[in-house]
Amino acid sequence: MGPIGVFDSGYGGLTILQDIKKQLPAYDFLYLGDNARAPYGTRSFDLVYEFTLEAVTELFNRGCELVILACNTSSAKALRSIQQNDLEKIGSNKRVLGVIRPSTERIGELTKSNSVGILATEGTVSSNSYVLEVNKYSPQTKIHQQACPMWVPLIESNKHNSAAGRAFIREDVETLLKQDPVMDVIVLGCTHYPIVKNYIQSIVPAHINIVSQGSIVAESLRDYLNRHPEIAAKCTKNASSTYLTTENTEEFDTNASYYIGEQIASKHIKLG
Ligand code: DGL
Repeated sequence: MGPIGVFDSGYGGLTILQDIKKQLPAYDFLYLGDNARAPYGTRSFDLVYEFTLEAVTELFNRGCELVILACNTSSAKALRSIQQNDLEKIGSNKRVLGVIRPSTERIGELTKSNSVGILATEGTVSSNSYVLEVNKYSPQTKIHQQACPMWVPLIESNKHNSAAGRAFIREDVETLLKQDPVMDVIVLGCTHYPIVKNYIQSIVPAHINIVSQGSIVAESLRDYLNRHPEIAAKCTKNASSTYLTTENTEEFDTNASYYIGEQIASKHIKLG
């Protein structure tokens, strides 16, 4: 038995963990941010896969029976390979879930115009995962994507509210909006982006609904644990959270509170 593992390249997954903790307060969580190697969004398929596999293996070795990839880039580029090729070796009977499927299952019910924009990293956009997955659940919905390669570096370095940071964000949002005037939903397809949600909402027409993934992923996980009592039974429930980072812990603790709304004390680990 062990905690539920939650992984991201850096801080973004904390926005998901915050919602998961609201919906599943009894569970224990072990968060791992690979801050030393973030951002993942502009890295090759092979590297994202290698880094994500190392992180999942580490979380399994620390007792997790279930790991959530709270990172769209890892979910897009590594989840399927890990599920199909690696689970057998690194933890048969253990489970790894991502954030793209829960989001794409819900997109069809969020839009009236059947035109949805996705803001995400280059890696997520080029994988085409959102287009392919939405097509399974809601084939009538058109997906328009915009890669935002500067956003994660801006957010991780706390420069997203500067004039230059906002100019980058505005340019990408405007480029997305130009793809279809009837777009009525924009999904934040990167777990870092809820940090700039208010700013995005302030620069788009009021009827556009900006959707972040936290509550969607949390509901989906609660539902998954209800449907899989054998997995839920292997997850410990002492309402604790532990945080690991591959970077400097002081910096992680200072920045993390901004994403998760509470003070934390992380531990340093090495991956790879
Ligand atoms: N939070 C990750 C995601 O959801 C960010 C990826 C990155 O490190 O660029 O895609």
